[in-house]
Amino acid sequence: MKTIHDVNLSGKRVFVRVDFNVPLDEHQQVVDDTRIVAALPTIQALIQQGAKVILASHLGRPKGEKNAKYSLAPVAKMLAEKLRQPVLFLEDCIGTEVAKAAQNLQNGAVMLLENLRFHKEETDNDPTFAQALAECADAYVNDAFGTAHRAHASTEGITKFLFPCVAGNLIAHELQFLGGKVTNPERPFTVILGGAKVSDKISVIDALLEKADHMIIGGAMAYTFLLAEGHMVGNSLVEPDKIEVARAAIEKAKTRGVELLLPVDSVVTDHIDFEHHTVGKLQTVGLDIPEGQTGIDIGPQSIARFAKVIADSKTILWNGPLGIFEIKESAQGTFAIAEAIAKSDAVSIIGGGDSVTAIKQSGHSQDVTFISTGGGASLEFLEGKILPGIAALDQ
Ligand code: 3PG
Repeated sequence: MKTIHDVNLSGKRVFVRVDFNVPLDEHQQVVDDTRIVAALPTIQALIQQGAKVILASHLGRPKGEKNAKYSLAPVAKMLAEKLRQPVLFLEDCIGTEVAKAAQNLQNGAVMLLENLRFHKEETDNDPTFAQALAECADAYVNDAFGTAHRAHASTEGITKFLFPCVAGNLIAHELQFLGGKVTNPERPFTVILGGAKVSDKISVIDALLEKADHMIIGGAMAYTFLLAEGHMVGNSLVEPDKIEVARAAIEKAKTRGVELLLPVDSVVTDHIDFEHHTVGKLQTVGLDIPEGQTGIDIGPQSIARFAKVIADSKTILWNGPLGIFEIKESAQGTFAIAEAIAKSDAVSIIGGGDSVTAIKQSGHSQDVTFISTGGGASLEFLEGKILPGIAALDQ
């Protein structure tokens, strides 16, 4: 795959697809700037090359309609502060105003187009719309790793109308960690998977059992595995129709010599109020959860056991929280694992989604090797799927 370092984009109008799908609060302020910061190296490299930088992104899922709530205007403001140079904001992503602004752009100047998903043709991957997007540019860069699993007009369709089509630094970096370091890991390689549902992770469990030495499973997902092993799970969240999937994973781990670690104890409660973030009386129980109780976190023995495996690892991949970490009383397991990862000398890769929020809230985001900006994209990549936004680039 070619990157911005393999081509000369000086003086060219470059359409750069970034993933500025960032959370905004009720005052339209950016709450988490991670994805903006992650795009800076590519934008700065293009500015230095003397390219005319035309940035485009989606924000949220406005379903093809213009909606001020999903405007990228607040992102343009924050980006200008971070780049310490003006960012021209355009009120649409296609049309004569955009073409005119792109034509007048100086070398090294930056503009940001309005939300691509204000046009439903974006998610439809409509070829006419893709061509209209391409009209303002001479070359294409994709640096939107978080959206690379979507075959949309700005990630896939547009590549048929521009040349060259190359990757930015962020995509190259993501592939280096989620690809290279996971495919050829320094061993022992430990994978930690959490989250609510086995069904969300079936393919990733299967793919990573081919590569890992240890696989730690936590979160509500672990209760389906414990049920498959014949344990009592009380009222814990389980997917009875996925018991066979869990059994198959347990068998596969045995056959391949992967140590599969499930929680040996759990923090349980008789009541959870998600709206007010409160729980009832807490207890710690062993492998079996009594009737009327719900498992909400891994217990102290599990934490100690998992932390020991983490400390002895050379490569660690973490995706998904180990308990309901949004509620203080059940966040301890997730934060303890974050701390164990931060303390280890291993190459540590946080594979996107909720585990990124968890590592940040734990205060350890500076102590890990790599944090992916992809949620769905990192999972699909780890499953071994080909991401259309990457496959469409020049090889
Ligand atoms: C994400 O946040 O995972 C990406 O920006 C993709 O967003 P989408 O799931 O709405 O396509």
